[in-house]
Amino acid sequence: MKPRQTSSAHVLIFPGPLQGHVNSMLNLAQLLALHNLHVTFLNTQHIHNRLTRFADIESLPARYPTLRFKTIPDGLPEGHSRSGEGSMEPFHSVKVHGKPLLREILVKERVTCLVADGFFGKMANEMTEEVGVPSIHFRTISSSCFWTYFWTPYLFESNELPITGEEDMDRIITTIPGMENRLRCRDLPSFCRPTRAYGEPIIPLDTIVSETHQTLRPRAVIFNTFDDLEDPALSQIRRRFPTVFTVGPLHQHRESRAATATNTMRSSNNSIWEEDTSCMAWLDSQPLRSVIYVSFGSLTTMSRDTLMEFWYGLVNSKTRFLWVVRSDMIAAGEGKDESVPTELVEGTKERGLMVGWVPQVEVLAHKSIGAFMTHCGWNSTIESVVAGVPMICWPYFADQQVNSRLVSEYWKVGLDMKDVCDRNVVENMVNDVMINRKEEFLQSADKLAVLARKSVNEGGSSYTNLDRLVDFIESISQ
Ligand code: UDX
Repeated sequence: MKPRQTSSAHVLIFPGPLQGHVNSMLNLAQLLALHNLHVTFLNTQHIHNRLTRFADIESLPARYPTLRFKTIPDGLPEGHSRSGEGSMEPFHSVKVHGKPLLREILVKERVTCLVADGFFGKMANEMTEEVGVPSIHFRTISSSCFWTYFWTPYLFESNELPITGEEDMDRIITTIPGMENRLRCRDLPSFCRPTRAYGEPIIPLDTIVSETHQTLRPRAVIFNTFDDLEDPALSQIRRRFPTVFTVGPLHQHRESRAATATNTMRSSNNSIWEEDTSCMAWLDSQPLRSVIYVSFGSLTTMSRDTLMEFWYGLVNSKTRFLWVVRSDMIAAGEGKDESVPTELVEGTKERGLMVGWVPQVEVLAHKSIGAFMTHCGWNSTIESVVAGVPMICWPYFADQQVNSRLVSEYWKVGLDMKDVCDRNVVENMVNDVMINRKEEFLQSADKLAVLARKSVNEGGSSYTNLDRLVDFIESISQ
């Protein structure tokens, strides 16, 4: 890495108030600070409190010694759950209430460049244009999904949308440049569907599309991906968006730069949930590649019946499993029980372990893990890619439907269980990935993992792009 003088650039990083957004943007923030840029990280007060509360024995400044933190309120009442169907409300609320606060911070703190979550696109563009600060958008989703969002209006123009109903779901989408004939209607982002999944957060398609098109306005866009992983979409994006920086997988990039850094960058987790690390000792006692890790991220909710189908499928497969069941994961229908059934907890003990939240990157890297049953959030997907772990995908909402198609059809590192939750299907897929087709999936996953690591090592595409990004930020900072 090139030695750099301390820069006069001051970057404000502004993530959306959700685990998957804070996580990847904290990794980016630390990488920029490592290059001697001044970096301030702007959280909502609610997220900041959660980060601080679960900061082990260390306080936040000790965990992130190279960053400064600022907060703004998210505008929601104290008791608001901010989960389930309401998990997007902090986003909407910050867009409405946060404008003057963001403006004040940009001016008072003499920010020279804003890196804003693309989900805040319009608000960030308006504020930065008003005060004359250059901005860059960061997208937490796959570039393939970003490109699909971007292309959605043209799907309406070419009559490939709307989706007319369940009978239409297997129709092939033909006109997305670079992704022609690769997605079915069911692989489009969930917002294109006529119906929502059980408990799915409410985000209108119009909002998603218009925020995506806002990314044409800032000076550049950053993706948490690498060129070899998503070339078809990235080549198309680069034609429309003049300056694109692919700098991922960010968690791995942060790790590998930290290993060679002289400046202080602690290894840290970015969880806003309390981690139960007891699972690591349990994993230590399991045979090589014998455990399937099951987790559906920070937002997925499901009915008790769906949870039971997963459980029976896992237990019937006779495979060992480590399952993250968050305290707010079961969405109760009216009058229904939302507790985890006792028989499930008891019946798991023979071959499985259920926990509330784990250090996921460490879990995926553990030698006893053989596969990952995932909702295909982009962080989880790319973390599994880096670890070389095959996947079974059960996408829930948003970009996850696209990501699971990448896993199963583009990269061939797993199976897609999309739109089905049946104990027999779960059992069969677990057996396919863990036993019957194990070698085939492992080989493909290994190849992808090698490419991922290469991209963040010296001379790799993401490594080079990060250096270019730092130069770019300095060049646009006044
Ligand atoms: C959401 C979207 O679903 C995702 O697609 C988008 O890109 C970001 O916002 P989420 O659903 O939480 O995020 O999924 P994901 O992107 O996978 O992020 C979850 C993060 O939580 C991952 O980084 C994962 O490592 C971490 N995690 C999850 C833990 O650290 N411990 C756990 O037990 C579970």
